[in-house]
Amino acid sequence: MEKNLDIAMLGGTFNPIHNGHLHAARVVLETLSPDCIIFMVSAIPPHKQVEHEAELREHRLNMTYAATKDEPRFVVSDMEIRNGGINYTIDTVTRLKELYEPRRISLILGTDMFLSFEKWKNYDKIFKICELIVLPRFKGSTEEIIQKRDTDFARWRDRIHIIDADVIELSSTRIRALATVGADISKYVPQGVAEYIKANDVYKHRMTEAVAKEYRRMEDTARERVSDRRFKHSLGVSDTAVQLAMLNEADENDARMAGILHDITKELTFEQQMELVAKYGIELDDTEKQEPKLLHAITSPKVAKELFDVSDDIANAIRYHTTGRADMTLLEKILYLADYMEPSRDFEGVEPLRELTYKNIDEALLLALQMSVQEVKNKGGHLHSDTLEAIDFLKAKKQNA
Ligand SMILES: [Fe+2]
Ligand SMILES: [Fe+2]
Repeated sequence: MEKNLDIAMLGGTFNPIHNGHLHAARVVLETLSPDCIIFMVSAIPPHKQVEHEAELREHRLNMTYAATKDEPRFVVSDMEIRNGGINYTIDTVTRLKELYEPRRISLILGTDMFLSFEKWKNYDKIFKICELIVLPRFKGSTEEIIQKRDTDFARWRDRIHIIDADVIELSSTRIRALATVGADISKYVPQGVAEYIKANDVYKHRMTEAVAKEYRRMEDTARERVSDRRFKHSLGVSDTAVQLAMLNEADENDARMAGILHDITKELTFEQQMELVAKYGIELDDTEKQEPKLLHAITSPKVAKELFDVSDDIANAIRYHTTGRADMTLLEKILYLADYMEPSRDFEGVEPLRELTYKNIDEALLLALQMSVQEVKNKGGHLHSDTLEAIDFLKAKKQNA
């Protein structure tokens, strides 16, 4: 890079870089016309314990290159990411200054970062080296920024530039989750990034070694106890549950385990089920006595607890995966829906249900419960009151919303 330039720096983990970042950079280019914008790809701090960080580091850099390649004034820096660990902005800008001797360095910040800027290490020294470019939460919402500038940061008033422009609010977490489920993310990231994510399976779900070991034990047990067809179903439920967990910020490992274990007693005979009912001292209600299909949801969590000491949350998700119940936990909803719509399920209405599940889990749950009521009625089976209560609960919740 040449010396004596006017440079602005936009830092972020860019995991992945998205249209919100690029829009912000373009707004700065158009408004303040710096010579270039440096996309500083930051290292993920060690305490965040991201699995496969090294691999992801290369992906984050590559995606940032892909996103910025068509704009010559966009420059990618790997300075922080190569350092690894914790990088303080003061150190980064000091280094940039030494290396490139720019005539001006600015930092591009969002509102939240600006409002808490005095918490940054040596923020007063940063002010001496850098000017700040602050973007509002949305166009017109500059009041809190101006107030902060004119009070706490009055000393540096002339070094703070506020750009009152539209911003594009996007969540990288959400984009990652959508990418994991294979949903279309081309609305949120440049095409090159969407293609890169897909080609490299950047956001596939990964387990820690300890979890993977325990999970493999569960998978082996499931494989021994059910037919190939049902085992395949359980794998599908497990994968789908993980995807839904990522989309809804639930525990992915719990979802994976609940999925693989949910039907573990499904292929036992009625006599074997009753043996387990007796062994665990379970009391059956009238519907459960008349509907043997419900038994596996009652005995599976007991077996899962005995063999793997699973958490109560996992056990309850398995317990209510067939009937649902009022006021379900997030994991219970996830397992219920995953069981309903895993990839090998193919019934009329499954596609719209999948679409809805990615948008609104409660709406999808309500639809799935209603579909299952219809199915039980069509087959002349016995409806469990838990299912009806689940529906009533969701309807009431919707009305009060
Ligand atoms: Fe089941
Ligand atoms: Fe199932």
